[in-house]
Amino acid sequence: MNLEEIEEYLKNTLSEKRYMHSIGTMKKARELARIYGEDEEKAAFAGLVHDMAKELTKDQMEEYIKKYNVVVDEVEKMKPSLLHAKLRICHGKGEV
Ligand SMILES: [Fe+2]
Repeated sequence: MNLEEIEEYLKNTLSEKRYMHSIGTMKKARELARIYGEDEEKAAFAGLVHDMAKELTKDQMEEYIKKYNVVVDEVEKMKPSLLHAKLRICHGKGEV
């Protein structure tokens, strides 16, 4: 999938607020990469997908944890929303 396809996927799966946040983060990441001489495409990709798993349901989170044997630490058990960074990778495997 290219960035435009991922943008379309996120537009259809995230809330409007989260989608707009992701687009803004993508733009800022690209700008910072340009300033610091880093890979702009990689930075844009990272910015775009960084919250793609943040709106997963509890059932989806549990499914990914089991399917991909995700290690959940004590802090994540108390605050499951912190798992979105780990689960983004799992979610990306199945959807994007
Ligand atoms: Fe974010």
